[in-house]
Amino acid sequence: MIALHVNVDHVATVRQARRASEPDPVTAAALAEVAGANGITVHLREDRRHIQDRDVRVLRETVQTVLNLEMATTAEMLKFAIQIQPEVVTLVPEKREEVTTEGGLDVVGGRDDLRKAIGELRDKGMRVSLFIDPDIEQIQSSAKFGATDIELHTGPYAHAKANTEILSQAYQKLESAALEAHRLGLQVNAGHGLTYQNTQLICHLPHLRELNIGHSIISRSIIVGVGQAVREMRDLINHQELRLGSGGLGTS
Ligand code: PXP
Repeated sequence: MIALHVNVDHVATVRQARRASEPDPVTAAALAEVAGANGITVHLREDRRHIQDRDVRVLRETVQTVLNLEMATTAEMLKFAIQIQPEVVTLVPEKREEVTTEGGLDVVGGRDDLRKAIGELRDKGMRVSLFIDPDIEQIQSSAKFGATDIELHTGPYAHAKANTEILSQAYQKLESAALEAHRLGLQVNAGHGLTYQNTQLICHLPHLRELNIGHSIISRSIIVGVGQAVREMRDLINHQELRLGSGGLGTS
């Protein structure tokens, strides 16, 4: 079975827009698990633009499936991950000015601190996944550096949309990368930019074990939830109007 890990970052994006307490990504994570998610993914960014430290701490207590913490390879994040002990840490490149993670991690040009970080996290019992472009050298370096998993960056595939030539090239790269990763004993995961339109084909990648999907699922949740949310508010107002009509809200 291909596991679905739901990324709840964008529930926190809506909350942080108001610095409010709702919507809570912890509640969304619990509902996602009840609906069949096999894991919950969060990216604790250095600028804390969406997920906060508190979210990860509470999720560690409440997630019943698998907690996957995406983070940059910094001393602060390593210390935090070791405290929290998620089942999986996914190391990603991070730039403050980017809207979302732009490219994969450069493992080939990787510094010694990347290798050390992987070793440290693995020694503490965590799986370590590297978010990389579907590039054979990146895969080989990931295996050499001691990662347990790789997450193939599906962004270029997703951006190809209906351009069949670019789409087929992007898919072929993912396919070759998945085969090489499996040959080297790495667990094959994939994610970024996956939607209700482009996930079907990705499910056919060889040896695929996990998908990480966020923005599209949270976007759809808002759209399919609007009707119910408005009905609930309309009912609440109707109820108060009825009370007013029967003199129930009088102040005398
Ligand atoms: N995988 C990684 C490593 C990511 O950084 C992200 C975005 O946070 C995702 C998957 C999910 O991407 P999307 O929100 O486009 O589904």
